[in-house]
Amino acid sequence: MTVKPEELRSHQWYGSGIASGLRSFSHRARTRQLGYLPEEHLGKPVIAVLNTWSDINPCHVHLRERAQAVKRGVWQAGGFPLEFPVSTLSETFQKPTPMLYRNMLAMETEELLRSYPVDGAVLLGGCDKTTPALLMGAASVDLPTVFVPAGPMLPGHWRDEVLGSGTDMWKYWDEMRAGLIGESELAELENGLARSPGTCMTMGTASTLTAAAEALGVSMPGASSIPAVDSGHERMAAASGSRAVGLVWSDLRLSKLLTREAYEDAVATVLALGGSTNAVIHLIAMAGRSGIRLTLDDFDRIARTVPVLANLRPGGRYLMEDFHFAGGLPAFLTRLTDVLHLDRPTVAHTTLRDQLDGALVHNPDVIRERDEALAPEGGVAVLRGNLCPDGAVIKHIAADQRLLKHTGPAVVFDDYRTMQRTINDPALAITADHVLVLRNAGPKGGPGMPEYGMLPIPDYLLKQGVRDMVRISDARMSGTSYGACVLHIAPESYVGGPLALVRTGDAITLDVQARSLHLHITDEEWERRAAEWTAPPERFGRGYGALYNEQITQADTGCDFAFLAGQGDVPDPYVG
Ligand code: FES
Repeated sequence: MTVKPEELRSHQWYGSGIASGLRSFSHRARTRQLGYLPEEHLGKPVIAVLNTWSDINPCHVHLRERAQAVKRGVWQAGGFPLEFPVSTLSETFQKPTPMLYRNMLAMETEELLRSYPVDGAVLLGGCDKTTPALLMGAASVDLPTVFVPAGPMLPGHWRDEVLGSGTDMWKYWDEMRAGLIGESELAELENGLARSPGTCMTMGTASTLTAAAEALGVSMPGASSIPAVDSGHERMAAASGSRAVGLVWSDLRLSKLLTREAYEDAVATVLALGGSTNAVIHLIAMAGRSGIRLTLDDFDRIARTVPVLANLRPGGRYLMEDFHFAGGLPAFLTRLTDVLHLDRPTVAHTTLRDQLDGALVHNPDVIRERDEALAPEGGVAVLRGNLCPDGAVIKHIAADQRLLKHTGPAVVFDDYRTMQRTINDPALAITADHVLVLRNAGPKGGPGMPEYGMLPIPDYLLKQGVRDMVRISDARMSGTSYGACVLHIAPESYVGGPLALVRTGDAITLDVQARSLHLHITDEEWERRAAEWTAPPERFGRGYGALYNEQITQADTGCDFAFLAGQGDVPDPYVG
């Protein structure tokens, strides 16, 4: 133990005795109002349990119970737990997209932890944006912290088929549009797609980010794949609460865990999992809060050093429960020891090496050997070119490989609603060789950079059997989606990025091997169009949206708010 009770941050609030002053007297009186005896509970590490539970978030609906397990663990280890409800970001229900609110939850997390008598924290999240938001805010406060992932839901089922959330929803919706199934089949599918509380059970954005958190060393070993309704999930939650108390006494703050080495390991993990492209944006933003400049080039460099070893949907066959029983992330990381930084600490062990000691792969079809890799390189490639001077990404392992080198004429949609209204219009005469272009879907233009990036294939092409096309946009894409979709084009069209200059009929070349995306027009034509471009009007006249619009940064730098990004002196509040 390196921290003494009187050195606890919470001691400033509670102190002891008359000598500590009026404020301390008041805080202790109000602690009695809460039903606690200050002499029994104060002087212990106060652990804030930040809970993103809500009735509106089916992925987190079990977190109310799970917070009780965390608190039990805190009590058992001699701490004092206090639960704080924080915003939930429900990927399914929040519009236009929870990404609009990621930074709001990050800000709420930071300010709650800073302004209350808290010595350490346990963060409960998992549905897509909640993981980066909670960790971004916590990194900015830098207290001892454990992240508890909500855990994946049970596998979906329809008749004799196993369903993956998101992935099979898109698939069967397209089957319906192609006339292969009807309304009664869809009704059955509705019953079987999401069978329990928990996050999407494919290697979508939620599982990618919770795996990244575990790889960063801020979750208990194996935590990220435990199914939400498994009793092991409750045990993990309790162990996380206990561990948070230990972290406070040993003063193991997030800054000691969230190093450049840890972020590089998280990138390698995400890429080897074939994880979501959303992780690129979130890890860059999270690293920024840790004072680390992680770039798109880091992703591309690391991608060339790791193969894809997780046989998980949408790129592979299995689901998160299979991954869990195959050994989970500890077993998976044993396949990557040549690229990982094994001497760095985690919340649970002195070194990552110790953490992985004894971890075994129990199913080599789920967690592949390197010579059985699903792809020889990491699942995400970073593109450059005159259409994306600040970069773009493509999840090439989830695309029709024939399209990874493709030149075709553009069909341009100025916004998502126009695209929805007109995509099936035969007058557009779209063929499988066309390149579908969507603009005004980026951080400002979306607004919030919605997951519009998997543009729908026209019905008449689906009926001809077309299942993939080259699609490009400044939007994001759900981690459960698939296809030859170029995403995150930066700078975005709404602020005058080159995507704003594309016209229907222009030739566009995608070459993933060469990492390039190119618009074929002359320099003179380029300059003429650029001179004609006018900025669209600002969307928000007031409120949070106005702040968002003023402060949001572009995809290549993580879409953090400019005033929240990076590190800087923010004093602890004066308590006296
Ligand atoms: Fe919450 Fe997928 S909708 S994790």
